[in-house]
Amino acid sequence: MKKKKIIIGNWKMAPRTLKEAKKTFSAIKKTAASLRNVQTVICPPFIYVSDILKLVSGHRTAVGVQNASHEEVTARTGEISTEMLTALHVQYIIVGHSERRAMGEDNELIRKKVHAFLKAGFVVVLCVGEIDRDKGGTYISFIKEQLHVALKGVHKKFLKNIVIAYEPIWAIGKNAKRPASVEDSFEMHIFIKKVLASLLGKDRALRIPILYGGSVNPENAEGFLRDGGVDGFLIGRASRDAEKFSAILHTANKIK
Ligand code: PGA
Repeated sequence: MKKKKIIIGNWKMAPRTLKEAKKTFSAIKKTAASLRNVQTVICPPFIYVSDILKLVSGHRTAVGVQNASHEEVTARTGEISTEMLTALHVQYIIVGHSERRAMGEDNELIRKKVHAFLKAGFVVVLCVGEIDRDKGGTYISFIKEQLHVALKGVHKKFLKNIVIAYEPIWAIGKNAKRPASVEDSFEMHIFIKKVLASLLGKDRALRIPILYGGSVNPENAEGFLRDGGVDGFLIGRASRDAEKFSAILHTANKIK
């Protein structure tokens, strides 16, 4: 059976009101409900999560979060625990997003989070990506290191709950230089598969979905899916626009 494409919306710190969040989610859910080849996931800000979860029906749209604490103690001001999230039926957690790495999360902390979240039963969306593409190719070993540290020692029973999102930092957000090219994405996806195979074993590694993220929009989505070797997307800006996100979902649904 062909794997479903996984399309994840990372809403970051938007929208400004719950009303808007519910409206966007409902519109996306409506599109997603009609698409059998796509698993849609929306990661709203924490403050909207419980209300958004009430709007979920069926399995085609799931809800995730953008972060959580990996610690079990209660004395962590401002943090959210995995227990709270499992009680709400949140299924996905993004880990290692470049914006959180920029806030100080290093590979070691990301490793702890990956392990704790897998143990707690979540699907972990592990983001990796280089800051820049230098001619000497150090970005390659940079990504290898990110994967090695985060995934080393992960028990094989958890591998079905890992998704990798390749997000080159230079291609993310409003100040992005440009989206990665389909060739950039293809080359990096092959490389990531190789690293995963050496870490986790060939058969298992091949089953781990690898998404692309960074300036994905309705115009470039098809190229990545057809020729970029990707199993789906992690999308920022375009995921907050129900029309654009729905167009990407339709594209993903039709590409075999
Ligand atoms: P973007 O963000 O789609 O707005 O470039 C991607 C991301 O940060 O995950």
